[in-house]
Amino acid sequence: MNIPGDKSISHRAVMFASLANGKSTIKNCLLSEDVLSTINCFRQLGVNIEINKTTVTVWGKGFGGLTKSAKPLNAGNSGTTARLLSGILAMQNFESTLIGDSSLSKRPMLRIIEPLKMMGCNIIASENNTLPLKFFPSDNLHSIEYKLPVASAQVKSAVLLAGLFGNGTTKVIEPIPTRNHTENLLQLNIDENEKGKIISVSRENYPKAQDYFVPSDISTASFFIVLALLTPGSNLVLKNILINDTRNAVLLLLQEMGASIEIENIKISSAEKYADIFVHSSKLHNVIMDKEIIPNIIDEIPILSIAGYFAEGKFTIRNAEELRKKESDRIFSIYENFKILGANVEEFQDGFTISKNHENSSPTFKSFGDHRIAMSFAVLSMLLKNGGKVENFESVSISNPKFLDQLSSIIA
Ligand code: S3P
Repeated sequence: MNIPGDKSISHRAVMFASLANGKSTIKNCLLSEDVLSTINCFRQLGVNIEINKTTVTVWGKGFGGLTKSAKPLNAGNSGTTARLLSGILAMQNFESTLIGDSSLSKRPMLRIIEPLKMMGCNIIASENNTLPLKFFPSDNLHSIEYKLPVASAQVKSAVLLAGLFGNGTTKVIEPIPTRNHTENLLQLNIDENEKGKIISVSRENYPKAQDYFVPSDISTASFFIVLALLTPGSNLVLKNILINDTRNAVLLLLQEMGASIEIENIKISSAEKYADIFVHSSKLHNVIMDKEIIPNIIDEIPILSIAGYFAEGKFTIRNAEELRKKESDRIFSIYENFKILGANVEEFQDGFTISKNHENSSPTFKSFGDHRIAMSFAVLSMLLKNGGKVENFESVSISNPKFLDQLSSIIA
């Protein structure tokens, strides 16, 4: 089975190729709704982008080459599109308006507006500092030094991308590591001290046209990995899966929980590590997690909660309030669905606990319009004696339009 390309890297490859001068190709690019939102935004900004199966060819416009869009730019459901693109739009010499769907329009944007305004950007947001955002040209743009108040790769990347256009060097101080694909793909300079990582960016890092290979998405793979681990007698091989150190904690955590997972054939492309993963069904037990691990597993917590439910002991997530700011309030979505199942579940502002109790037969779970909630509870449904259902399943197309076909292909 082929897992589609990594979502975070696909977004960035499309963005950097669009900014660069000339032709770039992106192989194994994810073409889900979220990445198509990024592609459509750059097409509206004057970039020619062609899609052929999973290869995307981009004719980038070079420094200062993007042009004003006649219509608002629509980021759809995608936080990565909205926040990273904001860092670019805020530095252009033309006006833009950025909109999104109803879920994205509720998500916090002050986290990017604040640092971008510190850089002299001219931005107007709607009342609650949410989308729509309007960007106007500014003649007061400058570089800054910014310490991230929230462990967010999207905020970090918005500032770094804006820094590509500023005069001088912008520095972002990151106390807790988050995914580092922007740094990897732009080959940014990184220092480390007791305050954390200090990432520097300037015009010298402006992307050049190049060929990208996108490793397969570890977050998408984790749904199949957990299903294989919990289905007795299963063996699953997944090829070319991203194992970047800021994304691989799901594998390390599952191994600590007793999972038989082997990682072989490690390779590197565009500074991103990937490998083949061999999974064998295993008996799992719950473990205590350090708070530093949370940003590394932030997108896998919904599926890890399914693994934790079937594992021995109580599954606990704390220090993860950021989960409330995702495509749905994921603490509530997980809590609510485990209640529907009949599990013992307790909700906190920053997390939840789950353990087994009585199990309702054939439950109907809610997707909350959130792709990762839909896929997690589809996996859970497959593991229940009498099955279960997930309502409003179509949101899976946000990250993996082929999820159901792939699921059928691995079931013997
Ligand atoms: C992403 C960063 C994370 C993650 C999201 C993708 C990225 O969000 O949850 O799915 O590509 O930079 P935050 O930066 O909001 O934590």
